[in-house]
Amino acid sequence: MKNERRRKQADNRARHGSTPAAGARAKAISGRGGAGGSRPGRTSPPVAVAAPAPAPKVARRPVLVLFDRDYRHAVLNIGHRGASGHAPENTVAAFGLATRMGAPMIELDVQVSRDGHVVVIHDAALERTTTGHGRVADHTLEELKALDAGGWFSARFAGEPIPTLREVLVWARGRVALNIEIKTEAVHPTREYGGVESKVVGLLRRCGMRAHVLVSSFNHVAVRRVRRLDGAIPVAVLHVGENDPRPLQEIVAAAPADQFCCALSELTPSLAEKARRWRVPVNVYTVNEPDEMRRAIALGVSGIFTNYPDRLAQVLQRSRTG
Ligand code: G3P
Ligand code: MG
Repeated sequence: MKNERRRKQADNRARHGSTPAAGARAKAISGRGGAGGSRPGRTSPPVAVAAPAPAPKVARRPVLVLFDRDYRHAVLNIGHRGASGHAPENTVAAFGLATRMGAPMIELDVQVSRDGHVVVIHDAALERTTTGHGRVADHTLEELKALDAGGWFSARFAGEPIPTLREVLVWARGRVALNIEIKTEAVHPTREYGGVESKVVGLLRRCGMRAHVLVSSFNHVAVRRVRRLDGAIPVAVLHVGENDPRPLQEIVAAAPADQFCCALSELTPSLAEKARRWRVPVNVYTVNEPDEMRRAIALGVSGIFTNYPDRLAQVLQRSRTG
């Protein structure tokens, strides 16, 4: 009876073919390579079916786990560098504010200090957001920790330090998911092991945050390295715009990445349609005006980076209640 049912299923597959999506689903569910895998310990005779088209290599899709258990929104509210419209970017003050404003995920940028520590700061140079001078990469952690990364924004935040990634991971665990953007300046062209990618992966493992982050970069080599180092960590590619003329699905498959991030201005209706067709979640940055937030939502994005998570929380609330 079972064999009969199985034969019918096989016939159906042979008639209708097996879709990439079906293959991907099967792989995601079973952890094996899609349809056609035989079960160990079963002795049923092989079923004669026309050879299916070779299944495309489908990336294993790790699932990003948010800490907010009530989170049911269709669009992810991502605090860009924290609530950086209200507090100095990439500081714990901005991160705390973003979570209080309802962001279930915070984006932050990482660079590497001279003595190899992963630190949370956007620019490769210290001048814009700290009291320091010169390159982050030319300073030790001790030197970086002596700088003020808050006073430039407002006297109220004077004395806010540059956080290390480790400090933020420890703070975020159980509280908020993180999008860790590896800045291109931090990526060594040839050094995969011992480079920023393996430092980030090591920290995520030690802090128990692998399932609660999205690691992204404009440098797709870095994204690929993270994927290779630990396939359980969700990764995203940041679009480099006109410098990368490849179709969306190729850009994503090359890493392979789980998500795609681009500027809202780059997300044309046709690109949004392709993302939908290929089932690629798209997050757009940096969207601060409610009208633009509504436009992004209408385009079907999965997440929105904003310096004002409070505004986005309101827009999302209104779009849910009609
Ligand atoms: O990760 C999205 C966005 O942060 C990329 O641009 O320059 O703000 O780091 P940037
Ligand atoms: Mg960033």
